[in-house]
This record gives sequence, structure tokens and C-alpha cells, in this order.
Amino acid sequence: MHRDHIELSDPDRFLGGVPHEWFRELRREDPVYFHPDAELGGYWCITKHEDLRQVSRMPGVFSNCESGVSMRDPEDENALARSRAIMLNMDPPKHVKYRRLVQRGFTPRRIGEQEEYLRGLARNIVDAVAPRGECEFVEELACELPLQVICEMMGVPQAERHQIFHLTNVMIGADDPDFATTRAEGEKASAEIFGFAHRLAQRYKEKPEDNLTSRLLHADVDGEALSDLDYCSFFLLLLVAGNETTRTVTVNGFRALMEHPEQLRMLVDDPSLIPSAIEEILRYEPAVIHFRRTAVADAEVRGKRIRKGDKVILWYPSANRDEEVFEDPDRFDITRRNNPQLSFGIGEHYCLGANLARLELQVIFEEIVRRLREPEMLTEPRRLRSNFINGVKEMRVGFTPER
Ligand code: HEM
Repeated sequence: MHRDHIELSDPDRFLGGVPHEWFRELRREDPVYFHPDAELGGYWCITKHEDLRQVSRMPGVFSNCESGVSMRDPEDENALARSRAIMLNMDPPKHVKYRRLVQRGFTPRRIGEQEEYLRGLARNIVDAVAPRGECEFVEELACELPLQVICEMMGVPQAERHQIFHLTNVMIGADDPDFATTRAEGEKASAEIFGFAHRLAQRYKEKPEDNLTSRLLHADVDGEALSDLDYCSFFLLLLVAGNETTRTVTVNGFRALMEHPEQLRMLVDDPSLIPSAIEEILRYEPAVIHFRRTAVADAEVRGKRIRKGDKVILWYPSANRDEEVFEDPDRFDITRRNNPQLSFGIGEHYCLGANLARLELQVIFEEIVRRLREPEMLTEPRRLRSNFINGVKEMRVGFTPER
């Protein structure tokens, strides 16, 4: 059955927030719905928690490599080949070999060792705005911690981090008129990030340091070093994946807390709730709205026949509000106990940075909740025009100035 009122391909439909009423309808009436699309080609919508888990765990059937993870197909063979050099767009067994190259830098132990360092950074970031009593929360506060941390881990000089911030926005904001309106501009941004990768390669090839870039430069996959394209693509993935997402969750989380003052009050009174608040923020407003898979064999999901070659879209915000899994799913409840949210994905491509992201969110919310008192929105936040990232471009907030 066609549901003409549901238009999930249109980024304008996400300007007012994730259209949860459509996802509610789909979960109830047609949870594996075939969404027609004359321009991009129709696609299956995975909207239930269980189905998102199933599809994500079958990389041999639902492939990342076949056509990438974007709703829009790569424009030609060249673009497809370039996308396949990025780990996110690989399938096993190749994917596993690449992931192993950097995995050690992201284990709970390795990340845990950085806790005090991250806490210091968070303190300095909030120091810079707290006495003023107002700030533009996205650029002055939320973007800083993930950006500083990933630049440090990659060996990118901190003085260049705002350039990285800008380039990431252009790459992610392809559908947003403020950032990039054409594919060419997005490609130019990725070429500039490759330029960064080349400059750092010169530096760390000769003198390796304890950072991820040095590790990539000296990596070995089946006895061979990474090609230039593989190295630059890896560099780009780590830089982009590690900064846009955590920033978005910080912004959406603070916004949700301001919109639910009784929850914010609970958190101020009892900061030991921060870890469960973070899980709830991740569930309620996930940073990633969708990723795509492509069927490389015939398959069945919830009784629907999916054919080889079909496009399948995983809708994370919908799985996170599945009534069969979450009690009262539209309620924002920072004390929620049973919370198997899927905002970091699951299975083969489960977010490499999940431990790091959780720690970043922990230390920044400790500072924000304690120090930005009586916060209020000064203007309506400006959302990113995107059905891919649940982002906010600008959010002006006021609070009691810190003495
Ligand atoms: C709250 C912040 C974050 C969210 C919500 C998030 C979300 C995700 C999601 C949904 C995926 C794909 C899962 C899939 O396809 O099944 C993913 C993959 C990935 N994330 Fe994150 N991420 C976050 C932070 C980070 C950070 C800080 C890094 C650090 C570098 C990072 C690095 C990656 C990488 C490299 C992948 C690809 C993994 C692979 O292909 O094996 N992410 N992330």
C-alpha cells in the first residue's frame, strides 16, 4: 500500500524534528514498508528494533560495500570505488582487517585512561562561557570537546581544528543551504581533508608519535601498507565520525533537558544520574537518523520478500521508540532502566567510538549541569536540513552568569 503522505526522502520534512508520527504509523501498520522514490529509487524502511538488529547483523546479505551507506547512490563507478576505501563502506572479511588497525585505540581501558584529561578539557570549555551568562551553544560549547579530542588522537594541531569543524559541516550538511548545495562543494571539502592527511603523513612518516595517524601510516594489512587512498579515507572517517555526532548529542541533550525542566532539576540534584541520562538522550534524540544497506541476496524480513539489489534503510530514531521494547517510548525519562537504545548501531559496524563518545558526554554534562544554572533558550534553535544527521546549527542559550 502506498502511503503518499509519508515522505522520508525529503530533508525539509525533518526541519521541525524527526517526524515521529510517520514512524509510529509505520511500526504499527507496515513496519517493513517499501517507500517509493522516483528520484533516488524506492527503498525498504526498517522501523522496528528487532528488525534493525537483524539486518545490521547480516552483513553477508545486507551489504555496506555494495552501494555505500547513503540513501543516494554514488554518482558513478569512480565515486563508488572511492567510497569503498572507507571502512564504514566495507564488508567482512576486509572490514574486520581494517577495523583491527585502529580498534586498540578505542578499548574501554585505553579510553578510561583519558578520563582526567577529558575532564580538564571540559572544564576549560565551560570556563570560557560560564561567566558570560549566554552563549551560542553549538559552536562555542558542544563542538569543542569532540573536536579537541579527535584532533589530539589523530595528531592534528589544535590550531587547525576550526578548519576541520568547517569542513565536517560542509561534508555532513550536503542538503543544507548554509553549508553545501552541490556535490562538488562536498567533494572539495573531502579533498581538503585529504590535504590535511598528506601534510600529516610527511610529518609522522619520518617521526611517528603515539597517535592514530602514525598508526595508519605504519599499518600492515596482509603484509602491505595502506594505499594513499585507503590512508586518507581512514583519516577522513575518524575525523568526521568522531566530531559531528557527539556534538549533536550534546546539543540535543541540553535542549531536551531544558524542555523537560523537572528532569534537569533531578539531574542537578543528583549527578549520579548522568550515565542513565546520557543513554536516554541517545535514545530520545539519536545523532544518526539513518544508514543504508543493499541486499546482495534475496532475503525476508518480517515476512516481506526483499530482493537482491534492493535498498534497505535503517531508521534509528524509530527503533529507539519501538513500543514493543520501550515503555512509554515518547516520554523523556532520565531514570529509564531498561534502555537498549540502538543509536550506535549494532553488529559488524557497531560504532567504534562508542566508549569515547560516552566518556565525552559524561564529562561535558557533568560541567554543564553543575555550572550553567537556570538555562533557557534565547531563540528557536536552527536545525540542520537533513534526513541523515539529527543536527542543530545554532542554539543560543542564556543562564545565570557564574561568579
Ligand atoms: C554520540 C556520538 C556517536 C554516535 C551517535 C555514533 C553513531 C554511529 C553509528 C550509528 C555508526 C554505524 C553503525 C552501523 O552502521 O551499524 C557508527 C560507526 C562508526 N563510528 Fe560512531 N558515533 C558516535 C561517536 C563516534 C566517535 C567519537 C568516533 C571516534 C572516532 C566514532 C567513530 C565511528 C567509526 C569509525 C564508525 C565506523 C565503524 C565501522 O565501520 O566498523 N563515532 N557510529
